[in-house]
Amino acid sequence: TYVVTDNCVKCKYTDCVEVCPVDCFYEGENFLVINPDECIDCGVCEPECPAEAIKPDTEPGLEEWLEINAKYCEVWPNITVQKEPMAEAKKWDGVENKLQYLST
Ligand code: SF4
Ligand code: F3S
Repeated sequence: TYVVTDNCVKCKYTDCVEVCPVDCFYEGENFLVINPDECIDCGVCEPECPAEAIKPDTEPGLEEWLEINAKYCEVWPNITVQKEPMAEAKKWDGVENKLQYLST
């Protein structure tokens, strides 16, 4: 599966949702997640994210983010249409360790 990670927090550009062939993105207040059971591993969303926040779970160190994706995709609503990024997306793009700002 692919996983939404750290740099999506407080940016939420949402370009990713437009390209997903199985519509498996789910939207929280300041973050999106992928449903790992629905993702077909096509990879088309990865290069679409301006924040480079989407990664394959084969990359090391993503266990915590995979858990977050798996947990909140069960709770948050589906999103399939792109919307405006968060107001301060540019400011937050690239800031490290944004897990502490994740709104759940
Ligand atoms: Fe959707 Fe493909 Fe991205 Fe999985 S890898 S979330 S199926 S676009
Ligand atoms: Fe987040 Fe990137 Fe999608 S910032 S909302 S994963 S386009």
